[in-house]
Amino acid sequence: MLAIIGGSGLTQLSTLEITRREVVRTPYGEPSGAVTFGTLADREVMFLARHGYGHTIPPHQVNYRANIWALKHVKATAVVSVASVGGIRADFAPGTLVAPTQIIDYTWGRKSTYFEGGEEAVRHIDFTHPYDEPLRQRILKAAAVAGEAMFNGGVYAATQGPRLETAAEINRMEGDGADLVGMTGMPEAALARELGLPYAAINVVANYAAGRASSEAGIHFDHIEAVLHEAMIRVRRVLEEVCKA
Ligand code: HPA
Repeated sequence: MLAIIGGSGLTQLSTLEITRREVVRTPYGEPSGAVTFGTLADREVMFLARHGYGHTIPPHQVNYRANIWALKHVKATAVVSVASVGGIRADFAPGTLVAPTQIIDYTWGRKSTYFEGGEEAVRHIDFTHPYDEPLRQRILKAAAVAGEAMFNGGVYAATQGPRLETAAEINRMEGDGADLVGMTGMPEAALARELGLPYAAINVVANYAAGRASSEAGIHFDHIEAVLHEAMIRVRRVLEEVCKA
């Protein structure tokens, strides 16, 4: 069964017909909330709100290990992550949807692996292509069927947050090759890979990154909320098609 992790702007899937909720205990502590099961476009899916259902857990305190472990435990077969981002590339304007292809991890101090030594032999997962390509293609195809524009490809920079970046940090990230910046993409993607769960993302550009275009003088959250509200309507349509595919 497909799992959807919703981020800022998507703490609920309003079109999900809920059948049950399951509180999962994990060896890594508590997930962000109960896993919600239901049907979307008549297909069974499960949903988890990354920041909690009341949006109270900041990006650096999300228990990514518990979340991914919980989804695997209740038999998720793939994970689609929805996450809002800042657009670094000039054509990634607010409201743009992107299916990213790459990640640069700038986060620190997060519990970012299930492999902690002890009795277990050391394992190094291959992470050359951090997103599962068949799942990414399924998302892109779903967007096309839904008639929603989505960029194919982009480099996601994962920052620690919860503060936004400085203009100079964004310049540096762009120099590194980043197109998008968000706070939750890592270690989530790597943990999914460690557990063998195909994982891909839909990034929703909420704002131009710090110092860029309309964010030159600053980033204003009241505006971001309006952008996300509108964009998530389109994301829900895409998700329905992802479920049908
Ligand atoms: N930076 C980091 N994370 C974000 C941003 C941003 O500008 N917008 C939405 N999530």
